[in-house]
Amino acid sequence: MKSLQLDADGRLRHLLAIDGLTRDSLIQLLDQAEALRAQAARGNRKLPLLRGKTVANLFFEDSTRTRVTFQLAAERLSADVVNLDVARSSTNKGESLLDTLATLEAMHCDLFVVRHPQSGAAHFIAQHAPPSVAVLNAGDGRNAHPTQALLDMFSIRQRCGDDFSRLCIAIVGDITHSRVARSDIHALALLGVGELRAIGPRTLVPSQLASQGVVIHEDMDRGLRGVDAVIMLRLQRERMNGAFLPSEREYFQRYGLTTERLRLAKPDCAVLHPGPINRGVEIESAVADGPQSLILDQVSNGLAVRMAVMAQILGNRAQERQR
Ligand code: NCD
Repeated sequence: MKSLQLDADGRLRHLLAIDGLTRDSLIQLLDQAEALRAQAARGNRKLPLLRGKTVANLFFEDSTRTRVTFQLAAERLSADVVNLDVARSSTNKGESLLDTLATLEAMHCDLFVVRHPQSGAAHFIAQHAPPSVAVLNAGDGRNAHPTQALLDMFSIRQRCGDDFSRLCIAIVGDITHSRVARSDIHALALLGVGELRAIGPRTLVPSQLASQGVVIHEDMDRGLRGVDAVIMLRLQRERMNGAFLPSEREYFQRYGLTTERLRLAKPDCAVLHPGPINRGVEIESAVADGPQSLILDQVSNGLAVRMAVMAQILGNRAQERQR
């Protein structure tokens, strides 16, 4: 993974996973996102960093936030953007993934932003793409979702400060099927988080996490005590192929984040959720819309973070070509 993602000098060529990045490169991306934040909020003055570049958004799976913020991020940097509507593309006529990509390469696309239901898809595409094309993973199966982890770290840092060693953070719910959780765990480890907890029923929390230093809690009330930030997850039923849960009602009773439960955490505990949220299943509306919720900040921060990633990857490539 490492050699594919980074060039010989350790600079980012593709972004496929947080795993394999260094702490410095992660912090550099967060700092660059910070610098671009004001620009991200403004649509009327575009930065020229990606002028003349073409970004192809290839979403083989549903998405609202990720797809739209990638599109806006590319446009804020003056790129041309094509959104492949997979439901209406030749994929439906039986065209293979590699043939679709070769077709887009022939149109001189510089960057593929890929979301795919298959774990490892972004890595596979990066392996087969010509050297002129960069690949950005926008979520592959249950494997990785690196830009979500970056925006989660950005949002936590904005709210809680940059010393992660002082923080206790909990990830709650369907960790087994979550690429967000996997990427967040790598990012939090790189940033040296003080304590990381995984809370959920045994069927949805991989026991191997304990060997990565994660403290597992089956009891939500106990797991929330003293937490500075809590990352809630959706039940990803599209990836479940068995009976993982008794019922949504029972799940909410045991693991739903309510105002009452949130009082067990630190008084100003930040509440994160990658979205889409299922109100009344993993989170109560009063919490999702309440003062401790960062859910919409996460969306806004996603724009700045995605601008930073694209600017850095295509900037590195321009430097590579000049040498
Ligand atoms: C997540 C995803 O697609 O992995 N959503 C997102 O990108 N904002 C989480 C989810 O689908 O539950």
